[in-house]
Amino acid sequence: MSNVKFLSGENIPLEMHKVRMVQRIHLLPVEERAKSMAEAGFNTFLLKNRDVFLDMLTDSGVNAMSENQYAAMMQADDSYAGSETFYRLEAVLQDIFGMKYFLPGHQGRACENIIARAMVTPGQVSLMNFHFTTTKALITLAGGSVEEIIGDEGLKIRSTAPFKGDIDIDKLHEAINRLGVENISFLRIEAGTNLVGGQPVSVKNMREVSKICRDLGIKLVFDASLLADNLYFIKTREAEFKDMDIQDITREIASCFDVIYFSARKLGAARGGGILTSDDNLYSKMRELVPLFEGFLTYGGMSVREMEAMAVGMRETMDIDVISQTPSFVEALCNELIAKGVPVVTPPGGLGCHLDATEICAHVPQIQYRAGALAAAVFIASGVRGMERGTLSEQRNEDGSERLAEMELLRLAIPKRVFTLSQVKYAADRISWLFDNRHLIGGLEFVEEPAVLRFFFGRLKPVSNWTELLIGQFRKDFGDSL
Ligand code: F0G
Repeated sequence: MSNVKFLSGENIPLEMHKVRMVQRIHLLPVEERAKSMAEAGFNTFLLKNRDVFLDMLTDSGVNAMSENQYAAMMQADDSYAGSETFYRLEAVLQDIFGMKYFLPGHQGRACENIIARAMVTPGQVSLMNFHFTTTKALITLAGGSVEEIIGDEGLKIRSTAPFKGDIDIDKLHEAINRLGVENISFLRIEAGTNLVGGQPVSVKNMREVSKICRDLGIKLVFDASLLADNLYFIKTREAEFKDMDIQDITREIASCFDVIYFSARKLGAARGGGILTSDDNLYSKMRELVPLFEGFLTYGGMSVREMEAMAVGMRETMDIDVISQTPSFVEALCNELIAKGVPVVTPPGGLGCHLDATEICAHVPQIQYRAGALAAAVFIASGVRGMERGTLSEQRNEDGSERLAEMELLRLAIPKRVFTLSQVKYAADRISWLFDNRHLIGGLEFVEEPAVLRFFFGRLKPVSNWTELLIGQFRKDFGDSL
């Protein structure tokens, strides 16, 4: 993000950090990669990390930490109640978001559980730009339901809209009129909207939605798990904020909301989670639940070392050079792939590059899990582990039939400051080879299908001998290369 131009004119995302601790990784030969994939039941969640070259499954809990975060971990104050660490973290978060209260939770979904239990009355609807898997499950568990009111552009794979995560204001008015204010538990805006490809929300949209909700008395909740990427996009795509400091933009955003929560496995490059609010009534409702589900109020299920790392990581997030790394690498990976004709979600968002399996595997019936097949094929071709975000990640309908996903995506996450540009280029190289040979990719079928969250533990197999054909072609084109 720093203004560094290359004489060549090339647009290269220059790293504003240096690497001082490393982890050895291994690239297995293609035959062994195929063997590991088979042993993992063609499910990338079941791969052993020792067999993975570039782990792009997620950024959750695997972002690189800074020297100052590690140093802070040594100063943690271990005590069940009243830990000095808690007060340090609380002060940092109160300052960053300008809110009165902080409640700790062991990760993002723990915060969602507390919010859902405190704010959802059975039968109520939670409106949101888009759901996240854990959010929807926990609201449903609390007796509520979810309705998505994202703009139409958000659901298009290819678009030029800069803020595809924005709420559609007409859909919002329509939903409020239809449901009635009393039947709406809250409205939730998710920063860096995960399941539509890490797409940001504009401050303009947040302000508009906030005004409508405040006028009507609807509580507004912000999922800030992917705020870092979203801040980068506000700074680079929303003219009003071009020269504004990241900290000031964050305060501006926070002023729109009644409750803010986040997964610190993402935001702040640590592990844990938290909820912020200035609402006395909501605070006291949620406070009762923290000791019950998480732990005492001054640790909330987190290790004090992680809390220290979070406090430092949150401050470091207020730096454009720190937060630009993931989105600029996502853009670099997307652009390399686009140049080779590989279809990806555009414009490039945060979090990761999202391959469009509907187009890449158009010859594979959707019922044979196109995105899952692509995830397996990418791993065999490259040792890169991605995450299926398509039909496999859905739950079957009550009558047992498949619920076919609207989008069949393969997400290649870019954890913060973990990979180098040559590794990103390697991933792009192998994926474009695979794209040229996509006719070889075949479908998958279940061997073991768990009734809930099948994408985590389900085991599948190829419907034909397509993986062997893929290996044969790889050897033909790459010779003895790994
Ligand atoms: N909200 C969003 C937007 C998320 O992306 C996640 C997690 C959560 C909430 C839940 O947080 O994992 O700490 O309990 N996303 C991870 C991912 C799992 O891979 O995208 P958590």
